[in-house]
Amino acid sequence: MKLMVVGGGGREHAIVKKLKENPDVQVIYALPGNGGMTDDCTPVPIAATDLDAIVSFAVEHAIDYAVVAPDDPLVLGCVDALEAKGIPCFGPHANAAIIEGSKVFAKDLMKKYGIPTAKYAVFSDCDEALAYLETAPLPTVIKADGLALGKGVIIAQTKQDAQDAVLAMMQQKKFGKSGENIVIEEFLEGPEVSVLAFTDGVCVKPMISSMDHKRALDGDLGLNTGGMGTVAPNPYYTEAVASRCMQEIFLPTIRAMQQEGRPFKGCLYFGLMITKDGPKVIEYNCRFGDPETQVVLPLLQSDLLTVMQATTDGTLAQTDVLFSDQSACCVIMASKGYPLAYEKGFELTIPDEIKENVYVAGAVQKDGRLLTNGGRVLGATATAATLREAVDKAYAMVETIHFYNAFYRRDIGKRALMATEG
Ligand code: AMP
Ligand code: GLY
Repeated sequence: MKLMVVGGGGREHAIVKKLKENPDVQVIYALPGNGGMTDDCTPVPIAATDLDAIVSFAVEHAIDYAVVAPDDPLVLGCVDALEAKGIPCFGPHANAAIIEGSKVFAKDLMKKYGIPTAKYAVFSDCDEALAYLETAPLPTVIKADGLALGKGVIIAQTKQDAQDAVLAMMQQKKFGKSGENIVIEEFLEGPEVSVLAFTDGVCVKPMISSMDHKRALDGDLGLNTGGMGTVAPNPYYTEAVASRCMQEIFLPTIRAMQQEGRPFKGCLYFGLMITKDGPKVIEYNCRFGDPETQVVLPLLQSDLLTVMQATTDGTLAQTDVLFSDQSACCVIMASKGYPLAYEKGFELTIPDEIKENVYVAGAVQKDGRLLTNGGRVLGATATAATLREAVDKAYAMVETIHFYNAFYRRDIGKRALMATEG
């Protein structure tokens, strides 16, 4: 089989490595992929948002199955465009990807179907939003409606910060059209859990839970990033919590999307907060999380391609989705300065013995050398019988990977270990 993965980061590298385990897979193209993936797939210099070029490539190369991983092409309708040419795809149609593409849609869906989430109000008028802030409790959470590269959420501690956030989104149009409408919502407290779930639109099968570490610096300090590391499973996602999530959140969401005439197939990401009143939805993503995927897929025992095809064919109920009972830890190595300005173009060396466990996010090949080419450069993932061992193994790997100006958090897994070991 000839496969194609749309996207180019560490998440896509993890998907590629797992797909490759299926003996029927002959070739995998990654659009655009990156220079650090060449041992596992063939990168093709086509941007993940260039739908016309993606579709032409897929048709010319007689692709048997395509996986669309990032949010933007999904929201733009990449799956619709590929399917129109007869190419089966993993991922939701645009009318379902809106669950991530519009926070207003997601919040209204949850309200209509009684799915637990933070209380909220929606604004399309800047003055009305500012007036609302006069009496809103603090801290308060301001969210741009549309995609904003993960930067469209502001947690304001003071009224001034909240006003500034509203003005930045609605008046200065910092996020362009994405900030034309905004959500102002209640601040929730509790541990966060990420749950990725396979779904064919009717059946939903959650994957092993995980915990992201979003802030740049140790101790959850510094700026928000795309994610500096992950562990799986998440100790706060107990069996009791999991069963509540299934009944109160996962199944109701899948049914709600069906009833709205927007059946969701692919991977639905539930960003959850375990509050004292029970689990609540912080956000939905219409795709695999990054870097959650880098700890979840290494623990998947079932064949990924088979499971993905079952979400496309509507046969997920008859398909096993089994996970190992081990733990995993992924430590992200970034370029110093990330998520703000950083330098790139430094030689990157990864020992051969650990290449199987390294997911490259930002690298380029030049004159036979591998050079850094992004803020997040790679993730090193270890699996082991216990989380403690997985964390130690991941950091031991990181010690053997070199590039100038490398920076990473030293405390990935610490909070989870405290929750498990006390
Ligand atoms: P997002 O960009 O949607 O992933 O949100 C970024 C982060 O903001 C989340 O991971 C949460 O930590 C935090 N967050 C979002 N909404 C809320 C909320 N209502 N209460 C508390 N924290 C929130
Ligand atoms: N790790 C969070 C996300 O993928 O959005």
